[in-house]
Amino acid sequence: MAEMQTVETVVALRELVTRAKRNGKKIAFVPTMGALHKGHMSLVKAAKEKETFVVLSVFVNPLQFGPNEDFHLYPRPIEADLELCKNAGVDLVFNPSVEEMYPNGFASLVEVSGVSNTLCGLNRPGHFKGVTTVVLKLFNQVLPDFAFFGQKDAQQALVIKKMVLDLNLPLEVIVCPTLREEDGLALSSRNRYLTTEERLRAPEIYKALCILRDDMINKKYQQTDKYRDELLQRLAAISDSSIDYAEVVNANSLETLYDIKGLILCAVAVRLGRTRLIDNILISIPA
Ligand code: PAJ
Repeated sequence: MAEMQTVETVVALRELVTRAKRNGKKIAFVPTMGALHKGHMSLVKAAKEKETFVVLSVFVNPLQFGPNEDFHLYPRPIEADLELCKNAGVDLVFNPSVEEMYPNGFASLVEVSGVSNTLCGLNRPGHFKGVTTVVLKLFNQVLPDFAFFGQKDAQQALVIKKMVLDLNLPLEVIVCPTLREEDGLALSSRNRYLTTEERLRAPEIYKALCILRDDMINKKYQQTDKYRDELLQRLAAISDSSIDYAEVVNANSLETLYDIKGLILCAVAVRLGRTRLIDNILISIPA
């Protein structure tokens, strides 16, 4: 097996991707912001299963962070990340600088309206515009056949799928299930911000989502609002928590749900101390 390579420029990236394509390989792409964990690596595993040339990008994208968010604090353990990638069989890591991605005078933005404007879009104005802009750039740089995203960021995956559809991008988006710690906490690079105490309380978020799922399957109520109210109560009961949102929506459109049927997404964003955690659960209720 060839050694993993790491490049920092678009020119070098293109050269290696072109070579892999010439050798008959399909390209699988896993975009990340680094601080890699098993959740990211599960995307790499899914990419490897397609017997492709696997490209993983590590780029903490300033455009998707608000002015008071954690861009400067965001962990950047690049050596550990490269080691994980090597062990997982990644073929090429793309680790560009901010200047490489956004040279002086950069002025183009990509916006997907509709699905970007609810849930996290309400609490983090401009966030998805930053995500779609960088992901479209990365897609154009890597020219992948497949791109892998996690269900953990359900809204992000939907926004990307919509962009790919609307702009006729010639690639397939594959969404992989959320990987969790044994106690249910969804793996996230931001979990390392949690204090020991907060880490102990964090699994309550997923527990609340599981209770809601069981109640829905057992048809405890007729109205969506009642489920939502109970979810809010359970999240509010977690000590030192504050809720950005807790919503029960149509899993495809993210629009408010009136009837409990079809594919339903229950999505939450909760702050534990200073750390903002998101999680969600998909529930399928037959009509
Ligand atoms: P990041 O938060 O590093 O996540 C990279 C990818 O890993 C995303 O597709 C995310 O959904 C997935 N992921 C994160 N935690 C996961 C888990 N517990 N289980 C499964 N998949 C998980 O999302 C971003 O970076 C950025 O917004 C990016 C798309 C790279 C654009 O900058």
